[in-house]
Amino acid sequence: MSDFIHVFTPPAEPGGPILLLLHGTGGNEHDLLPLAELLLPGAGVLSPRGKVLENGMPRFFRRLAEGVFDIPDLKLRTQELAEFVAETAKTRGFSTKQVVAVGFSNGANIAGSMLLLRPDVLGGAVLFRAMVPLVPDTMSDATKTPVLISNGRVDPLVSAEQTEQLASLLRSSGADVTVAWQNSGHELTQQDVTTAREWLAQRRSRPAAR
Ligand code: MLT
Repeated sequence: MSDFIHVFTPPAEPGGPILLLLHGTGGNEHDLLPLAELLLPGAGVLSPRGKVLENGMPRFFRRLAEGVFDIPDLKLRTQELAEFVAETAKTRGFSTKQVVAVGFSNGANIAGSMLLLRPDVLGGAVLFRAMVPLVPDTMSDATKTPVLISNGRVDPLVSAEQTEQLASLLRSSGADVTVAWQNSGHELTQQDVTTAREWLAQRRSRPAAR
């Protein structure tokens, strides 16, 4: 049993979306709860706390330096988080197709890694300030999984090339990727919230593609 300290709230309607909230470095399971409320009121939430500590700050996987990831640890942590989502779906009685990851920074990076290695546990994803987490040896099939990447034009941590590389990597696994550019750096803005809210609403009005 893979376990994480977490918050779970079921969706208002049975079968409704469940946002898998993945915080940034130094965050916790409570950080993104207000964001979830803004993005999709009535959605369920599954919000785990990252288990890796960097100088006391929770993260979802180890890094060797800023933007330089410990790939074996990232792979292991991605599988662990995917198992947690799959097991929680079983015990709480929902389908993983209902699950839409919403990740910021380090949380967006593990969500990207899940899309690349374990797309079976996600119905979609919103990635705020995401980088290329890893390049998998073999591509998984994420056919038609809707993904929104919302990145900043002047982010000192994530270059435009990184963003484009992530988008094309995800597209090559079949994901349906939208890239939204915000006039900002690494921090989240109101425009990120508006973009993601509209994207999620549009997606809800269409029947699930997979
Ligand atoms: C990461 O480590 O995932 C990225 O550098 C973003 C961050 O968390 O600072």
